Amino acid sequence: MSIKERVLVSRTIAVPADTNPWGDIFGGWILSLMDIAAGSIAARLAKGSIATKAINDVTFDTPIFVGDEVSVYAEVEKIGNTSMTLNIYVTIKRKGQDEELHAVKGKFIMVALNENRRPRPVREKWTDAEKADEVASA
Ligand SMILES: CC(C)(COP(=O)(O)OP(=O)(O)OC[C@H]1O[C@@H](n2cnc3c(N)ncnc32)[C@H](O)[C@@H]1OP(=O)(O)O)[C@@H](O)C(=O)NCCC(=O)NCCS
Repeated sequence: MSIKERVLVSRTIAVPADTNPWGDIFGGWILSLMDIAAGSIAARLAKGSIATKAINDVTFDTPIFVGDEVSVYAEVEKIGNTSMTLNIYVTIKRKGQDEELHAVKGKFIMVALNENRRPRPVREKWTDAEKADEVASA
């Protein structure tokens, strides 16, 4: 995955089990989907264990209802030394409609971990070709 390329990580349907006591979709469920997406991409980039260090600037911009198709996209904003910054976007399609609407966005800071669960360089397990690719696509 190259930097700034937005990729679809997951797609699901919001069901009644994902609602809060007021019948609306529970924000924590959406955050969980976003965290899983960020973790999935970060673990691939780091080729190993990662942890969520920070979740910043999450905004819920459009309500999500039962029956909506929910898609989660990831875009790598930056690869630091031990950290990766990913922008995660959630879009929805209302039941029976084709239009894809922006719903939620947030910035996830993921950290590559060593065997002692301490931060380690993201690029530690990269081949020379992968390092060269990153420079070429920067
Ligand atoms: C993740 C963890 C190993 C990081 O260890 P740490 O000593 O706190 O990390 P550091 O201070 O060395 O920071 C690591 C990297 O994160 C970055 N970072 C730390 N806090 C940040 C923040 N709030 N925002 C953006 N980046 C941040 C640092 O700049 C550094 O990046 P770099 O190496 O690319 O320059 C440790 O905090 C931890 O185990 N936390 C719990 C993780 C967890 O359980 N997550 C799931 C939530 S339930």
